[in-house]
Amino acid sequence: MLRVDQAGEYGATRIYAGQLAVLRRNAPEAKLIARMAAQERRHLDRFNQLMAARRVRPTVLQPLWNVAGFALGAATALMSEEAALACTDAVETEIDRHYSSQLDQLGQDDPELSADIEEFRADELEHRDTARSAGATNAFAYPLLTATIRAGCRVAIELSKRF
Ligand SMILES: [Fe+2]
Ligand SMILES: [Fe+2]
Repeated sequence: MLRVDQAGEYGATRIYAGQLAVLRRNAPEAKLIARMAAQERRHLDRFNQLMAARRVRPTVLQPLWNVAGFALGAATALMSEEAALACTDAVETEIDRHYSSQLDQLGQDDPELSADIEEFRADELEHRDTARSAGATNAFAYPLLTATIRAGCRVAIELSKRF
């Protein structure tokens, strides 16, 4: 669980880095994204800390998530500001599902990890809602774009579980 969660938060920081590299620095979307990126950094730091404490190795796919995350962020930001927000909308929708299913699986087994996941899940839902209210759904081909990104996230989650 820690391996896949750390991979996801790492991917999130790379997506936002890609978007911030493309978006105009003073665009309102860039400000929202910079704030969300800082929270992803905090999530990632926490999982790094837990992985070190519990001697969990990171996914060997980290170099792939580095490039793929940045590329996804940059590509969506190049499409439009709304597409960049739709990317957040799609990713956070899948992360919410992922964290919810982990919380179900964990039950009372690991209260320390559950507390972090619970807190981060609330942040991710807030990111999703922020993206939606800032205009994500106005993105060109929003249903197709978000369905594609969500499918990609599910593949990334499965791969990170295995490798
Ligand atoms: Fe996060
Ligand atoms: Fe997030």
